[in-house]
Amino acid sequence: MAGKAAEGGGWSSRTAFVLAAIGAAVGLGNIWRFPTLAGENGGGAFVLVYIGFVLLLGAPLVLSEILLGRAGGEDAIGSVRNVARKSGRSESWKGLGALQIIAGFLILSFYSVVAGWVINYVFLSGADWFSAIASGDPFAGAFNGETQDEITGRMGALFADPVRLIGLHLLFMVATVWIVASGVHDGIEKAATWLMPAFFVLLVIVTIYGAFTGDFGQALAFMFTPDFAKLSPQVLNEALGQALFSLSLSAGGLLTYGAYVGRDVNLAPTAGTIAFADTLVAILAGLMIFPIVFAVGLDPAAGPALIFQTLPVAFNSMPAGALIGMIFFVLIFFAALTSSISLLEGPTAWVIDRFGLERRTAAMVVGGSAFLIGVACALGYNVWSDVRPLSFWGIFENADILDSIDGFTGKIMLPLSALLVAVFVGWRADRNLVEAETGLSGGMFALWRLLVCWAAPIAVFLVLLFGLFPGLL
Ligand code: PFF
Repeated sequence: MAGKAAEGGGWSSRTAFVLAAIGAAVGLGNIWRFPTLAGENGGGAFVLVYIGFVLLLGAPLVLSEILLGRAGGEDAIGSVRNVARKSGRSESWKGLGALQIIAGFLILSFYSVVAGWVINYVFLSGADWFSAIASGDPFAGAFNGETQDEITGRMGALFADPVRLIGLHLLFMVATVWIVASGVHDGIEKAATWLMPAFFVLLVIVTIYGAFTGDFGQALAFMFTPDFAKLSPQVLNEALGQALFSLSLSAGGLLTYGAYVGRDVNLAPTAGTIAFADTLVAILAGLMIFPIVFAVGLDPAAGPALIFQTLPVAFNSMPAGALIGMIFFVLIFFAALTSSISLLEGPTAWVIDRFGLERRTAAMVVGGSAFLIGVACALGYNVWSDVRPLSFWGIFENADILDSIDGFTGKIMLPLSALLVAVFVGWRADRNLVEAETGLSGGMFALWRLLVCWAAPIAVFLVLLFGLFPGLL
């Protein structure tokens, strides 16, 4: 490992790496974004296309990015440059690493704001459960005695309060910086090995709860009965962006984590495990949320408010809703934290390698800058609520500041960088080096290459083209 960021060693075991990478992958993308998009885009067809993208492009690209990281052994930019050099290619391929680091940095800025909303609901639901205990009924419904309007109104009240929004965003960013500053081994790895198992236990509890108390049949039908009339180029673009976002592809996280992986780890099965676990959690999140939503006759297409407004209303009339509501938000908080540390690690590793800064200083500089952009996102809900930064561009016309950064990274930067990764690993990087890194051989290697060389670039290119220029169809 040449990079300074990795000084002091990488992951202590394969398990530690797998947990950290799953921690990076599983996050708000799975529990907030995936059900929201599936709900808005009609359920089954979106879910099917999503799974198709994960199998055909996502999993092969996860392997591609981790192998680039390990073969390059530095931060995202340095790693791509090293592999280009070893392959006798132009060093300007390192621009690919730069694109990823910028995307990761921008995602971090709004991710932390949304994670702040989650913290708000951890506090609210925690206080709610304690008052349920105090009133002698720990198994009361959430926000007992409040009307539907009062419950949903809490989200509006939060959005109208810039100080609270920014304070929560700051709290989350400080936690993220603190973990990353503690190092790969003592910070990132430790956080993942504690938080991820806890996350899975909580996820199973809430899913079983939803299956028993909610309308599981309707949720299954909604998520797995495809209505292909709902598919459009924009839906495909959305599904692709979501697959990349959810697998933590194209944002520097996996490339950077890959550099800390030892030579003894077999990368192909590891990449498969990461993609599988991430997809499983997204589907479980749907199966956790939709039964509850349907049980009380609420709208699955509620958009970003689905988990913050719709679910608390549902928990209101459900048994033990106060307790389950609190568990639900704690679970999301854990997932968000293990993802945000990977978003911060990408640019931080680059700053350490490039400028020779101490890890702690680098993490604070990067986290602090992302915090400032996040402040603009938070203000976009109140003081700057009229601002539509990308309104000149049809597809982003009505997007506020946060949605604009989310949309620009998800719909443009991530697919573009995925396209470049596929072309670089498939066509430009030295074939022997790549083959040795994957650990694949024979038919499996041929299949993986087919997906990386052809399926991924063609599909991503088409989706980008028609998603961004719907008029072409
Ligand atoms: N995969 C994370 C999620 O689904 O919430 C988000 C993310 C993390 C994207 C790390 C990109 C990344 F590098």
